[in-house]
Amino acid sequence: MAIISSKSESEPQPPRQQKAGAKPSDAAEPAAPASVVREPRDRPASPPEDGLRPQKIADYIGQKSLKEVLDIAIRAAQSREEPLDHLLLYGPPGLGKTTMALILAQEMQVDCKITTAPALERPRDIAGLLVNLKPGDILFIDEIHRLPRVTEEILYPAMEDSRLDITIGKGQSARTRSIPLNPFTLVGATTRVGALTSPLRDRFGLIQRLRFYEVDELTQIVTRTAQVLNTPIQPDGAEEIARRSRGTPRIANRLLKRVRDYVEVKKSGRINQAIAAEALELFNVDPCGLDWTDRRLLSVMIENFNGGPVGLDTMAAATGEDAQTIEEVYEPYLMQLGYLQRTPRGRVVTRAACRHLGYEVSAVPDFYNEQQLSMM
Ligand SMILES: Nc1ncnc2c1ncn2[C@@H]1O[C@H](COP(=O)(O)OP(=O)(O)O)[C@@H](O)[C@H]1O
Ligand SMILES: [Mg+2]
Repeated sequence: MAIISSKSESEPQPPRQQKAGAKPSDAAEPAAPASVVREPRDRPASPPEDGLRPQKIADYIGQKSLKEVLDIAIRAAQSREEPLDHLLLYGPPGLGKTTMALILAQEMQVDCKITTAPALERPRDIAGLLVNLKPGDILFIDEIHRLPRVTEEILYPAMEDSRLDITIGKGQSARTRSIPLNPFTLVGATTRVGALTSPLRDRFGLIQRLRFYEVDELTQIVTRTAQVLNTPIQPDGAEEIARRSRGTPRIANRLLKRVRDYVEVKKSGRINQAIAAEALELFNVDPCGLDWTDRRLLSVMIENFNGGPVGLDTMAAATGEDAQTIEEVYEPYLMQLGYLQRTPRGRVVTRAACRHLGYEVSAVPDFYNEQQLSMM
């Protein structure tokens, strides 16, 4: 099971960023010598983005209202010496949900156990996690909309009354036992808040949405990551990468790495605007951040369906993409750009998308027209 402890995340240091995660945390073991490497049980190899994650709320760029809400919650919880209220974070992938959970653990000076809903198949998976939580610890469950029913039912009393109800035996001899738990904070993350059952959703005291980032925020993120990676970059280069990052920090970091490769192999010196644009053109990322799949989704709708309305499943079949991926990964950004709209009868392409892709605007009806939309 994928469980890691946030206390082993190390502060990213430029010269040693490859080894992020291998240094013990000072917060956990103030007296431990710096050379001692303590790996918690079950710790998986740290994913490559771990070293790039900001560690403090002050380094977490953007998401102003989220930070304000959490800052108040943290301070109130600290002054009452209580754990944070249960928190549900939702929004498209790569916007900083996992990062925020780890930051909360740092700010509250507690451990964060990370797991993902599909890994909690059997009651004993979640029970094992819950009984091992120390007071105030954070349990982070990713993709929480995919929790199996049995697991979800175990979570209800755990979240509400810090109690673990387990059934022992089967049939007539089955008995339920209650075990007291340490009070803890559940942080759930999901890309599909609508897919959560309402009893689960109602048990979260804080429900917060993450938004796409503005270009200036992403520029700051690219600049910071470039520093961590020891890659020289000019402000206009960072901005060019930011503009093509679909409002998403994970994509910004990924594109920066591709541009860095390009510079190292083909050019030399600092990343500037021209080099970033040239490199990203090569990787098929256009000036709005659309990739090959985005453009294909739109052009199939324009060419094969006169711009829509098209049902999600039809679109999936026509493009060979997975319907859920289209809905959760591609559509949110296309809608944000105003290139796609969802209507009760299906998805429609806008004239702005036609213009961007170089089609005649008359290729699709003018779906921007409010009246037309409301009649559909
Ligand atoms: N607000 C932010 N400031 C700086 N970097 C961020 C921010 N949010 C996300 N990132 C970067 O983007 C990457 C993806 O974030 P993550 O928390 O894993 O997204 P999610 O869990 O929502 O899919 C992280 O490695 C982190 O470096
Ligand atoms: Mg995540």
